[in-house]
Amino acid sequence: MSVKEKNRFEFGKNWAAFLSTLNDKRIQTAEESLSQMLKLSALNGKSFIDIGSGSGLFSLSARKLGAKVFSFDYDRDSVRCTQELKDRYFAQDSQWLVEQGSILDTQYLSKFDKFDIVYSWGVLHHTGNMWQAIDNAASLVKDDGLFFIAIYNDQAHKSKRWHKVKKTFNQSSIGKLMVLSMFIPYFFGMALLNSILKRRNLFKEYKQNRGMSVYHDWVDWLGGFPFEVASVGAILDYLQPKGYTLIKVKTNLGLGCNEFVFKKNHNIL
Ligand SMILES: C[S@@+](CC[C@H](N)C(=O)[O-])C[C@H]1O[C@@H](n2cnc3c(N)ncnc32)[C@H](O)[C@@H]1O
Repeated sequence: MSVKEKNRFEFGKNWAAFLSTLNDKRIQTAEESLSQMLKLSALNGKSFIDIGSGSGLFSLSARKLGAKVFSFDYDRDSVRCTQELKDRYFAQDSQWLVEQGSILDTQYLSKFDKFDIVYSWGVLHHTGNMWQAIDNAASLVKDDGLFFIAIYNDQAHKSKRWHKVKKTFNQSSIGKLMVLSMFIPYFFGMALLNSILKRRNLFKEYKQNRGMSVYHDWVDWLGGFPFEVASVGAILDYLQPKGYTLIKVKTNLGLGCNEFVFKKNHNIL
């Protein structure tokens, strides 16, 4: 799927707004979530590439856990956000580099050695060529290294409807206004109602998951385009025969991402 530049969602502008809400608690939550998914309490001595680093929060988390980090993103505003986090917390640090680049650009990728950990959360389905992006990202994993990806869940006809919503959002300012004014109150109302019915603060729980902001993630969800999806089975059927063994999965039955951590077998061709 080729999407015109003007119809891509401006991820970085949303991340810049998110950075104003960032605090130590969110950073600590992000760090813990990364460490739990990777089943590693520290990343000292490990190389970590963050493909589509967005706000830079998970590059920062990986660096705080001790990894040598390389971050890149296609969107220049996202690159600026990641750079800003680096400047805030790891200025002058040679163990964290930030650049602009695309996971679909094989010439750009050819400069990289392989990494102990390849991380790409919520990115590869926004490239316009998801399966190629998955292949390119997987090719950066060292033997016995870890491949951590999050990909939008395939909700069949519902995903097709979301595709239309996202397309409308990115076609014009009126489209954007329509989508935001229709869905943000709806999402807010549903979350409030569920919080009351379940006697749980779902807004607080969201923050405690990956340290992200529910509002900025709603905007990211409504605008995030290009947009592709895959079921858990489709991802497993694609990567397992290529020599990637699943070591952890977090599934999402509804709207949102399935998260996978694979280990690359050392004996694949
Ligand atoms: C939903 S955000 C996820 C950000 C971050 N990984 C996180 O977990 O918060 C998706 C990011 O992917 C980036 N992106 C989209 N296409 C890309 C590409 N071809 N190469 C690299 N990054 C890309 C976007 O600019 C955006 O910052």
